[in-house]
Amino acid sequence: MKNIETFTVDTKQQGAEKLVELISNELKANRLQVFGLATGSTMEPVYDQLVASDLDFSQVTAFNLDEYIGIPADHPNSYAYYMNERLFSKKPFKKTFIENGMAEDLDEECVRYETLLKENPLDVQLLGIGENGHIAFNEPGTSPESVTHVVELTESTIAVNSQYFTEDETMPVTALTMGISSIMQAKKLVVAAFGENKRAALEKLFAGEVSAEWPVTFLLKHSDVTIITDLKF
Ligand code: F6R
Repeated sequence: MKNIETFTVDTKQQGAEKLVELISNELKANRLQVFGLATGSTMEPVYDQLVASDLDFSQVTAFNLDEYIGIPADHPNSYAYYMNERLFSKKPFKKTFIENGMAEDLDEECVRYETLLKENPLDVQLLGIGENGHIAFNEPGTSPESVTHVVELTESTIAVNSQYFTEDETMPVTALTMGISSIMQAKKLVVAAFGENKRAALEKLFAGEVSAEWPVTFLLKHSDVTIITDLKF
């Protein structure tokens, strides 16, 4: 596929190294003013390596893909907390943005976030993939026209992500997420998928047919996608 370049690695750690190399190239070529970030287990080694690197993000603005609704930024399971703990508190950025899942008016919050994205066009967006093929929290069935919006998480996503919540915590079942269209505006998309549970989603992508049932397949319509995976096909 001419718009998709795939790097196959042996381990998640090697994948993270490759990803950091790509980011470093963009940064050094002055093509990374606005950086779209993701959370989740896939990104953990990536942020560890970015922190350990000598890369300078002090002139880079960051936007995160998504945030749960109803848990505050200082809650250990919020994505704001994840980002602060793993990256921002250790690597200074010029400015960082994430949706406010505690906003009183969530629709207004979506408009605010999308406006910020319009004012700060994404140069590179990092993406993980859900087992069900979601990108950000764009679950199966999401429109390709979607911008930042409120989502109801699917059973599959709740089952996977509930592992991070303790028994006496209730996992949020709604979230705010950049839409497919918001993501597709990024100049470059860098996707990481490690482990067998991502095989079905990548298979759908490599099959080459766009379907809203597998949101990851919308990437087929983007002109610059890099995939890093430890899966062999
Ligand atoms: C996280 C996000 C999600 C994850 C995906 C994979 O900000 O937007 O789409 O990238 O659910 O999660 P992990 O990496 O935990 O397998």
